[in-house]
Amino acid sequence: MALLVWLGLSLLVAVQSSAVKNCHPGCRCEVESFGLFDSFSLTRVDCRGLGPGAAMPIPIPLDTAHLDLSSNTMGPLSDAMLTGPGYTTLVSLDLSSNHITKISPNALSKLRYLETLDLSHNSLDSLSPSCFSGLPLADVDLSYNDFQEFNMDVFATKVNGGPVSVDLSHNKLVSVSRSLHEGVLHIQSLSLTANRLTSVPRLAGVPLRYLNLDDNPIAHIEEGAFAHLKDLVHLSLSGLHELREIQPHSFKGLQSLQVLDLSNNPKLKTLSPAVFSGLGSLQELNLSSSGVTSLPSNMLSHLPSIKSITLGQSIQCWRTQKQGQFHRQLGQVQHNEVLNCNVEGIVF
Ligand SMILES: *[C@@H]1O[C@H](CO)[C@@H](O)[C@H](O)[C@H]1NC(C)=O
Repeated sequence: MALLVWLGLSLLVAVQSSAVKNCHPGCRCEVESFGLFDSFSLTRVDCRGLGPGAAMPIPIPLDTAHLDLSSNTMGPLSDAMLTGPGYTTLVSLDLSSNHITKISPNALSKLRYLETLDLSHNSLDSLSPSCFSGLPLADVDLSYNDFQEFNMDVFATKVNGGPVSVDLSHNKLVSVSRSLHEGVLHIQSLSLTANRLTSVPRLAGVPLRYLNLDDNPIAHIEEGAFAHLKDLVHLSLSGLHELREIQPHSFKGLQSLQVLDLSNNPKLKTLSPAVFSGLGSLQELNLSSSGVTSLPSNMLSHLPSIKSITLGQSIQCWRTQKQGQFHRQLGQVQHNEVLNCNVEGIVF
């Protein structure tokens, strides 16, 4: 019995070390085992900063799940650079800081299980239509690139060779074809921080939950700019140094939004109450270090769920119950709740 256990254990160890033995010089490969009796394992390969002249594709172990290829001066991504046995199983891929200027249309097409893609700190200003199509991408980081505009068509599925953009809002969606499901409906988190966007990109028809547009030269946000992003929970619009105006009803349609970050927008001086209309789920509003120093008194009527507002340098306001006015019979106590701030004289 003991011999059998010893044999079993040594077999397990052999499997693990052989995977690591195939590791490309300069890379680090780790096998992580988990589950009952370590029945599941996944391989993580770190090939960061291999130095100039590293030939792509880098061979990686079979069944690699996570691959870090950041800081390798890859340049334009060709169709051949991300191919080979271990690539088809990748779940996450880090291509940040690689001077990537272009992605050829099929460069990513073999990565059919890819959920997380980091393309930050490159020099991309466009993506070929449908270059992410067919990938089950949930989380895409395109921060610190050169996009002046961005179109959600890149996530759409090729049909008859051409990209389609799909607006699935106002539908009671029961089923969609599998390819459409894989191509469009997974993307949940998108960062376009620190690009050159001058307006809010059109992102309709996608179940985004997290969107970051920080540090872009957006000067105006227009009515309906975020329409159809009904699943969005967190919206970050911080550090928009050109932002002067948010039009009323700009956030209309963001029915699930819980966190809105408008901090570090120094040219934004006023907000009309109607700016906040439609934000029925908003819990946290951050206006710290923005040009807005006071808030319209009736804005709370638009924000039934608000719990905290941050204003100016250090003003923090919380929702509290007005004492002594709670009527159990009246049920909803919204009109008895007030925002209390850590500074005197702020009244909502
Ligand atoms: C508000 O934004 C500022 C600046 O980005 C940040 O430091 C602070 O933690 C935020 N506050 C909250 C409550 O999220």
